Amino acid sequence: MPQFVRCALLAGSTLAFATSAFAALAQSFQPPALTPESISTNYTGQSNNTLQNSPLVPGKAFDRFIQIWFENTDYATAASSSVFQNLTKQGLLLSQFYAMTHPSEPNYIAAVGGDFFGQPSDDFRAIPQNISTVVDLLEDKNISWASYQESMPYDGCTLFNYTSFDYLTNNGTYTYYVRKHNPLIIYDSVSNVTERALRIRNFNDFAVDLNASAMPQWSFITPNLVDDGHDTTIDFIGNWLTFWLMPLLQDDKFNNNRTIILLTFDETETYTINNQIYTLVLGGGLPKHLVGTTDDTFYTHYSALSTVQANWGLKSLGRGDTNNTLNNVLEFVANTTGWKNNGISGNSSAIPLLNLTGNIPGPLNGEFYIPFTAPNTSAVGAGGGPVFVADGLNTSFTVAGLPAPVNLTASGQDTPWAANPGYDYPNGTQTFTTPTTQSSTSGTGKLVVPIATLLFTVLSMACML
Ligand SMILES: *[C@@H]1O[C@H](CO)[C@@H](O)[C@H](O)[C@H]1NC(C)=O
Ligand SMILES: *[C@@H]1O[C@H](CO)[C@@H](O)[C@H](O)[C@H]1NC(C)=O
Ligand SMILES: *[C@@H]1O[C@H](CO)[C@@H](O)[C@H](O)[C@H]1NC(C)=O
Ligand SMILES: *[C@@H]1O[C@H](CO)[C@@H](O)[C@H](O)[C@H]1NC(C)=O
Ligand SMILES: *[C@@H]1O[C@H](CO)[C@@H](O)[C@H](O)[C@H]1NC(C)=O
Ligand SMILES: *[C@@H]1O[C@H](CO)[C@@H](O)[C@H](O)[C@H]1NC(C)=O
Ligand SMILES: *[C@@H]1O[C@H](CO)[C@@H](O)[C@H](O)[C@H]1NC(C)=O
Ligand SMILES: *[C@@H]1O[C@H](CO)[C@@H](O)[C@H](O)[C@H]1NC(C)=O
Ligand SMILES: *[C@@H]1O[C@H](CO)[C@@H](O)[C@H](O)[C@H]1NC(C)=O
Ligand SMILES: *[C@@H]1O[C@H](CO)[C@@H](O)[C@H](O)[C@H]1NC(C)=O
Ligand SMILES: *[C@@H]1O[C@H](CO)[C@@H](O)[C@H](O)[C@H]1NC(C)=O
Ligand SMILES: *[C@@H]1O[C@H](CO)[C@@H](O)[C@H](O)[C@H]1NC(C)=O
Repeated sequence: MPQFVRCALLAGSTLAFATSAFAALAQSFQPPALTPESISTNYTGQSNNTLQNSPLVPGKAFDRFIQIWFENTDYATAASSSVFQNLTKQGLLLSQFYAMTHPSEPNYIAAVGGDFFGQPSDDFRAIPQNISTVVDLLEDKNISWASYQESMPYDGCTLFNYTSFDYLTNNGTYTYYVRKHNPLIIYDSVSNVTERALRIRNFNDFAVDLNASAMPQWSFITPNLVDDGHDTTIDFIGNWLTFWLMPLLQDDKFNNNRTIILLTFDETETYTINNQIYTLVLGGGLPKHLVGTTDDTFYTHYSALSTVQANWGLKSLGRGDTNNTLNNVLEFVANTTGWKNNGISGNSSAIPLLNLTGNIPGPLNGEFYIPFTAPNTSAVGAGGGPVFVADGLNTSFTVAGLPAPVNLTASGQDTPWAANPGYDYPNGTQTFTTPTTQSSTSGTGKLVVPIATLLFTVLSMACML
């Protein structure tokens, strides 16, 4: 069965399968905590102190950028939800916002790294340490950041998934947390640096940070597999939004008059349409005259990178974030910072197909493998600054002159970046288990990398999209 059909089985209880045995398992929403500002045993991970942030760095259009991601939902499905309709009246609807590919994991990877590196699946990946993310750009300007992952067992967790008490049924356990929805942990440049890894926090930390007025300036928030709609429906998402986001919109510690909240989805559920996802800009930082209006500029997940670059004058990653077809900056921010978008909007035929899946060459794609290459160091991003160059990056190793993609799968191998590097932070200190032993050189630097013999991910797992 193709992967998208399997996913539809799980996520779409309104489909033809509604009368099957599966439908009997459909969960109904239960609040995981008393309020969004309360800690709860249902969140699994304990809180670990308050996030320590550097002094606020004012942006040109906003001072705080919060992203909240939901799962696998077509534009029309979200548009039909009464809760989304309500929120739309309070915000700016981005009616031409697109995901990059399918399934889930490459979209998350793209949103923080400016590329999905050919990733064709939801399998385990660890991206080498000389590949940069938005974290490098933010830290370069002392802008505080964190990610909040609901149901993650401990800060900096590098596990593939985590199963905990099933608080919806009060009976047994449930896999609420998955690594594939935790974008920054997939990058060794974040997860192999203790201070950075520990800024990937859980929802009990969120409650503590919020109560301490310690929300960072940039954050990426992933609700768990039921609250983000992955295993459930748009109505379940709506219930969670009513429980969690609606009150927080009124809380000055979360949403003040310099806050922008980007509410979006990783991808559409249907693969055979282009990847248009319902996306809202909320928050007190949204200019009043834009509340309740629609912006039909063509945006993508790379727009979340270019917009923060423009806002704080950041360096760029020199990848999709500087691709002028894909990197339009939110218009009200572009107008404030003087950045010129490409003019693509509405249902323009210039909007590329962004539903291509699995056959895009890259270092994370075992069937179309090419090594990691350096970013385009002469690119100019929306922040105006130069391209960030990580330590150990061989900037002369570029796409030009690369050999044709190789099918590693055909010789029984996987991409080297499917190997688990073997470190974790179960108690706030980096621990090591045995990583893969074989090594070879690859890509953009001197990095010695494990060859893929370790992790045989099971494709038949329930809806890994
Ligand atoms: C955990 O979730 C259940 C179901 O909503 C709820 O009854 C319970 O109060 C929650 N626990 C805490 C500590 O909030
Ligand atoms: C939508 O908003 C209205 C007015 O604020 C409220 O009465 C209604 O309950 C909301 N509906 C949903 C589904 O959130
Ligand atoms: C969780 O990960 C393990 C491998 O670490 C895998 O065997 C299992 O199927 C995964 N479960 C889910 C629900 O993803
Ligand atoms: C709890 O789960 C077990 C195992 O899945 C099942 O046999 C049992 O019927 C469930 N109990 C209730 C009260 O739903
Ligand atoms: C934004 O909020 C701050 C702090 O509450 C206040 O001083 C300022 O006047 C507000 N600005 C606007 C434009 O409302
Ligand atoms: C992508 O979407 C287009 C419609 O915009 C459709 O024609 C095409 O078949 C889709 N591609 C795939 C691989 O499903
Ligand atoms: C920019 O993105 C477009 C649309 O996906 C693509 O066709 C083009 O090759 C990209 N440009 C570069 C330099 O990668
Ligand atoms: C941005 O500037 C353009 C050109 O001046 C204008 O047409 C447009 O309305 C502005 N958009 C916003 C959101 O301010
Ligand atoms: C790569 O090899 C595998 C195993 O032989 C095969 O199933 C697959 O179709 C090949 N992929 C491509 C793109 O040729
Ligand atoms: C993690 O960092 C250590 C140095 O702190 C380095 O020795 C090791 O090779 C790194 N591992 C990976 C997978 O990058
Ligand atoms: C964490 O665990 C490691 C390895 O088990 C141990 O050496 C270290 O002392 C522990 N640190 C704390 C703070 O408990
Ligand atoms: C808690 O956070 C501090 C930094 O604030 C860190 O030093 C410590 O290792 C963390 N402990 C755990 C259990 O994550």
